[in-house]
Amino acid sequence: MQAITLDAHGAAPALRDDLPEPTPAEHEVILRVHASSANPGDNMIAAGLLAKEGLEYEFPVTLGRDFAGVVERAGAAVRDLEPGDRVFGVVLPAAPTVRAGAWAELIAVPAGQAIARVPDRVDLAVAGAAPVAGLAAIAAVEALEITPGEDVLVVGATGGVGSLAVQLAARAGANVIAPALPQDEGFLRDLGVSVVLPREGDLVAAVRERFPDGVDALLDLVSYVPGAYDAALRDGARVASATCAAGEGPGRTNVMGDPTPESLERLGALLADGTLRVPVQASYPLARAPEALAALETGHKQGKLAIAFA
Ligand SMILES: NC(=O)c1ccc[n+]([C@@H]2O[C@H](COP(=O)([O-])OP(=O)(O)OC[C@H]3O[C@@H](n4cnc5c(N)ncnc54)[C@H](OP(=O)(O)O)[C@@H]3O)[C@@H](O)[C@H]2O)c1
Repeated sequence: MQAITLDAHGAAPALRDDLPEPTPAEHEVILRVHASSANPGDNMIAAGLLAKEGLEYEFPVTLGRDFAGVVERAGAAVRDLEPGDRVFGVVLPAAPTVRAGAWAELIAVPAGQAIARVPDRVDLAVAGAAPVAGLAAIAAVEALEITPGEDVLVVGATGGVGSLAVQLAARAGANVIAPALPQDEGFLRDLGVSVVLPREGDLVAAVRERFPDGVDALLDLVSYVPGAYDAALRDGARVASATCAAGEGPGRTNVMGDPTPESLERLGALLADGTLRVPVQASYPLARAPEALAALETGHKQGKLAIAFA
């Protein structure tokens, strides 16, 4: 079976075709994967960063977290899923070693954990690109507790999480403000961004010029230390971050996407009713997934980089 694996620390992620097909443990289902996407976390795993956090890598490590596919077999104890079901979710990165991933033709996934049915109206390609970024976007926008008419600054709006979060913030009634490159303006306005500011230069000054009292809320998807944009906030503003940059204190929340069946069902419902659209910048066949990882690191992102299985 084909998979994209990391075969040793320091090795480049690559396609191999000699992995054994998985068999289901009694609480697992075997899925044929149809779609996935690249997330910054995939590059972190490929770079060995989880080993620095003390987690063991069991090589070959299959890369990829997001998945959407069709159940082929169900373990003896699985009650709620059966062959033919369309499902999506997240392969957890360390369960308990770093080994399993979604970028394989067939994967074994525990039923009842990070997996849910894909609603009928949602394509598997869309469902496969959505989980990691979508769950983080939902958690972040929820943490901001937006009320209609508020000014919400989203830094990193063009990327996977940001392009979904701005839709949810706009839907909650926010006046969404995003720093971006000139070529991003149309893309962001289509997603519901009201004010596009220059990304280069002094962002805080640009925000204060337009919003002298400061903004009501900030979603920071790019900083790794808190405080970079605090001077753009009004007193009492809320801050959320998916990069641990929210800091501490009232109204400040560092969010983690939580891939439970319930949260995935909620994401599926937002995709099905059209509240959330997944912008796909490019789609790579499985064999070229390493190129998606490179593009994620070095290219300019507008939405998601999808992985399409044959
Ligand atoms: N906590 C969680 O559950 C969770 C889940 C998913 C992701 N994350 C983290 O959240 C971060 C974003 O993830 P992602 O999937 O959205 O990544 P992404 O697709 O790479 O998006 C990041 C976006 O931010 C843009 N950007 C970078 N610096 C900027 C700046 N100074 N001003 C404005 N925009 C800027 C990037 O532009 P360029 O393309 O030009 O660089 C890119 O469009 C990553 O650090 C990821 O690890 C956390």
